[in-house]
Amino acid sequence: MSTLNTIAPAPKIARLSPRSRAFGIILGFAGAGVANVALGYSAFSFWTRQTKFVPYSPSPAENADLTLPVFQQHNPLGNTAICIDHAVRTVPLAKLKTTELGGTEGLTTQFCRGVWSGAGYAYQRRYLEKKYRGLEGRDKDVWDREDLGKSAYEVGTRITDHFEVVEHGEDRVVVRCGDSPHNAGLRPSDGLFSMEVTKDEDKGIATFHLKSVFVNTTEEGRNSVPLNWRFQFAHRLYTKLWMETAVRNVMKTARQAEEKEGERVAQKSV
Ligand SMILES: *[C@@H]1O[C@H](CO)[C@@H](O)[C@H](O)[C@H]1NC(C)=O
Repeated sequence: MSTLNTIAPAPKIARLSPRSRAFGIILGFAGAGVANVALGYSAFSFWTRQTKFVPYSPSPAENADLTLPVFQQHNPLGNTAICIDHAVRTVPLAKLKTTELGGTEGLTTQFCRGVWSGAGYAYQRRYLEKKYRGLEGRDKDVWDREDLGKSAYEVGTRITDHFEVVEHGEDRVVVRCGDSPHNAGLRPSDGLFSMEVTKDEDKGIATFHLKSVFVNTTEEGRNSVPLNWRFQFAHRLYTKLWMETAVRNVMKTARQAEEKEGERVAQKSV
């Protein structure tokens, strides 16, 4: 496969149905994404071992996130999610590039940039680019890796014709997925993906969170059962991949850590 991001001419293919866009894409890319970073499954498991899934209830009575306006707005009937999970990854504050980032807000934005410009999203990014970049009205979307790595991710930012920022707070950026942002109305299958950062100064750690909530919002989807385990499994692999590639965007590189250590030693010896 060519590594050049050549822009395909206006695609002849009809738009994928919302369902295949929302779910097929994730399934396909979970596998492809893993292959793309050229790691076998056991190496992958090792590499992502620090990302853990924590309980995340599909019931609004037990999960305050689901009562937030942004979640309610995209699930007007309050249907039960068909895929919902919450991944966490902690990083010691000392390992973060904090001085360059500027507080929690900066850290949150940088984490978000890491998701979309990172290697974990590269395969899907290229795929979406080939298929959709040539379509009318997509030129205002953010497409290039470099731009994804520096966008402010303000509300309304459209990412590769598939994700749209619907909320940007100090410690949270929420994007909507499930279909092209150009289909702004109610979607039969809708998804929200939240990238969050919390800090515990006493323990000296920052925790990075990725939360996914996919809902069949239709009347018939009221009592949906969760998607099958293969989908859930693939989705979790993909989430882990995104987490690792995003976290690397906020951490000091080994070289920076060495330089810092060097400075410390130098200061001590004067
Ligand atoms: C929603 O759920 C219903 C009932 O299970 C199903 O027939 C329909 O295809 C689903 N719609 C989407 C968009 O997933």
